[in-house]
Amino acid sequence: MAEFVLAIDQGTTGSTVALMDSAGKLRASVNREFPQLYPQPGWVDHRPADIWSSVVKCIRALLRKGICKPSEIVAIGITNQRETALLWDRDNGEALNNAVVWQCRRTTAFCEQLKADGHEKMIRRKTGLLLDPYFSASKFRWLLDNTPGVGRLRREGRVAAGTVDSYLIWQLTAGERHVTDVSNASRTSLMNLKTRRWDSQLLELFDVPKAILPEIVPSSAVLGHTRNVPGLPDGIPIAGVAGDQQAALFGQACFAPADAKCTFGTGSFIVMNTGAELLHSKAGLLTTVAWQLGERGKPVYALEGGAFVCGAAVQWLRDGLQLIKRAADVESLARTVPDHGGVEFIPALTGLGAPHWAPEARGTLSGLTRGSERGHIARATLDAMALQNADILRAMEADIGKRMKPLRVDGGAAANDLLMQTQADVLGRKLIRPQVIETTVAGACYLAGLGVGLWKTPAEIKKIWQAEREFSVAMNATARRRRQASWEEALKRTLL
Ligand code: G3P
Repeated sequence: MAEFVLAIDQGTTGSTVALMDSAGKLRASVNREFPQLYPQPGWVDHRPADIWSSVVKCIRALLRKGICKPSEIVAIGITNQRETALLWDRDNGEALNNAVVWQCRRTTAFCEQLKADGHEKMIRRKTGLLLDPYFSASKFRWLLDNTPGVGRLRREGRVAAGTVDSYLIWQLTAGERHVTDVSNASRTSLMNLKTRRWDSQLLELFDVPKAILPEIVPSSAVLGHTRNVPGLPDGIPIAGVAGDQQAALFGQACFAPADAKCTFGTGSFIVMNTGAELLHSKAGLLTTVAWQLGERGKPVYALEGGAFVCGAAVQWLRDGLQLIKRAADVESLARTVPDHGGVEFIPALTGLGAPHWAPEARGTLSGLTRGSERGHIARATLDAMALQNADILRAMEADIGKRMKPLRVDGGAAANDLLMQTQADVLGRKLIRPQVIETTVAGACYLAGLGVGLWKTPAEIKKIWQAEREFSVAMNATARRRRQASWEEALKRTLL
């Protein structure tokens, strides 16, 4: 009997469900976008029912392709937008409020207060994270304070809290399992990185009761079984779970310390494997759990830097400015000009993440002249995506005190050759693009496949992973310095 792994990649703007065969080949995938809600400037919400129905629709559409029989699916892997926080009712699985999305800045004032009260150092030491509205803890607090009827439901023991992985596992198991994997838990700001347990001091500080939180489980192991999922038989093991950036690191076969990847998604996220070492950044980066394989597996840690807006900047060119019809058109528009022509776009549309951490910063478009064209704005957008990554990578190299290995790139926008060349140029480092650029999905499949023994070791997976193309540096050092200086000037004005 043929064996397949089904992966659910629940991302910020949509869900993807994909099938991988036992040779590690991605055979098909289906994607569905869902509405983004912006109730106030700087706020971002998702309706949990939209998230779940997009997943169910993808599963049905994928199975309709007839690539495998549902009975041939031996494991399910989940990967997800991280930090996004939800509350639901244990009695019926219904969400009690909209999900507060990772990009949402509504808890800025609360985080500022905690900072002023001197809590950041302790949070940093215990969680590896900064005190920023990005992480789930302040979002849970907001939901507990602002969800009608939540007090009564809490007294009745009916409130369940979790990140998106946890919500999906609850739905997939018809409420049998309330769990979250250690990589997702490491993004909440409530988990102690060393013990990998919910930390009582943090729970108290954010005033989030432990009773509403999920159990923390490994990233690869059988965590539950499907029950009552439309289109799927009952009893399929859910055997792999990781936050999307950690899954991408796994999908890029970055199994050794100093292996690093950059995913060009809604945001862009650079993650570097640091092995068993829990390395605290001096340069504004985060320490996080990459994964834990099996109950007895040792945790693998990582350093991470993320720019909140990457592909989202292109979406804004498409939807906000209506400069392009399809996101992919940005490359041809940018190629109509030889360079950015002095135009700088700082895409701080939802504040700035690593290494600046300025939640209140807003986007700027500067350096415009009578000669500026649409092409320059498109070019400046691609440059910005690359330049903000370069800032993060330099911070990472400063932390580890040496040059990194060639960076592995993935995510939708990694298909954009102009962007990849620009990235190699402004960074001054070689990039490697794999054959499978959907590495997030691949990572979820690998974790789930390992969880049920379809593959025995990561070494077996390493053999499946293959490079497609390398991008070498084509810009000289003087041009790089000039480009960097113009960017930094614009950045300074944005951060004023
Ligand atoms: O930390 C947020 C991240 O997990 C979201 O990823 O791929 O949905 O942009 P993505």
